[in-house]
Amino acid sequence: MHENEKLGYDRREFLRGSTAIAGATAAGVLLPTGISLAQQAKLKVGLMLPYTGTYAQLGVAITNGFKLAVEERGGKLGGREIEYFTVDDESNPAKAPENTNKLVQRDKVDVVIGTVHSGVAMGMAKVIRESGTLWINPNAGADEVTGPLCAPNFFRTSFSNWQTTHALGKVLKAKGHKTAVFITWKYAAGEQMMAGFKEGFEKEGGKLTKELYVPFPQVEFQALLTEIASIKPDAVVAFFAGGGAAKFLKDYQAAGLKGKIPLYGSGFLTDGVLEAVGDAAEGIETTLHYADGLDTKKDKAFRLAYAKAFKLQPDVYAVQGYDAGQLLAAGMDAVKGNIGDKAAMIKAMEAAKIDSPRGPWTLSKSHNPVQDMYLRKVVGKENKVQGVAWKALADPARGCKA
Ligand code: PHB
Repeated sequence: MHENEKLGYDRREFLRGSTAIAGATAAGVLLPTGISLAQQAKLKVGLMLPYTGTYAQLGVAITNGFKLAVEERGGKLGGREIEYFTVDDESNPAKAPENTNKLVQRDKVDVVIGTVHSGVAMGMAKVIRESGTLWINPNAGADEVTGPLCAPNFFRTSFSNWQTTHALGKVLKAKGHKTAVFITWKYAAGEQMMAGFKEGFEKEGGKLTKELYVPFPQVEFQALLTEIASIKPDAVVAFFAGGGAAKFLKDYQAAGLKGKIPLYGSGFLTDGVLEAVGDAAEGIETTLHYADGLDTKKDKAFRLAYAKAFKLQPDVYAVQGYDAGQLLAAGMDAVKGNIGDKAAMIKAMEAAKIDSPRGPWTLSKSHNPVQDMYLRKVVGKENKVQGVAWKALADPARGCKA
């Protein structure tokens, strides 16, 4: 069916007068010359990310990465220029529905890009499920989003929390560690990364002897570090990120634990913080879907372009934002800018092969990246790649029925 018929308009009548043309522009119909009017209307992109608080740097890196992907395409996706709408979600789950509605209801964005914090993502999922808006999640790992809450309009370009720690079980086993303590923030991301690790470690015959939690986003680690010293596990595994990770690494060293009980983690523990922590992170091994020193053409080009544009070194968050732009571009190109053709757009995004700085990846059925998990080691200011800890790791997507 032609777009005009779908809208219930007669084509000639539709093209009479400027009001109709404006309507046609918004609806993305074709002029007789074949030029899509949709190309003239800007694509409304809503960025819902933390720009204050412990995850502020992460939000900035994601934003930078996304904008770099757009700029590399001449500032357009599917032939349409971009209009940005930005909300600082403060990593506050309580404000998530209201903040999401600012973009979805008030600004009427075509696509939402967000967020970092798993608890905030859960609030977004509720609102976006109802509105049907396209959602690309460039970080928050909440397992539910590509699990029981999965939906055709939900996409993720980062990871599930489970994915980031699952390979660590094998890593610890190879080092001969039989017992471990997990320490993290008490919220979905920490709990799910702990569960992913536990599953992987127990499969290898290891034992998680203690789970230690601090409330998010607190950074008072002293009492728990004292407890770790008295438990004396073979290894400690941690999830902290951003400013909290930097503080934890420094406190671990100051408590005299560094060099005594080896510390591991999902790579967020050491990504984007090495400038801030001096030698407190030296030698720490982590698993993550990105690393320094990958030495691929794509990664080198990305790092050069990012450093040039923002006078900063990119990290995993920048990569995830960049890939959110790449995934959206794949969809927009397929429908030539007509984001209203949601079915075709979703189909193209599902089939996309993303040429990422992290290495190529595709989406699983539940719209989560299937990707290599690297083993990295901190050497100076780099999370140097040591090898692949798990090839093409897919989230199990437990409970996804879509
Ligand atoms: C999350 O809340 O899902 C989260 C936050 C920061 C990270 C990773 C995961 O670095």
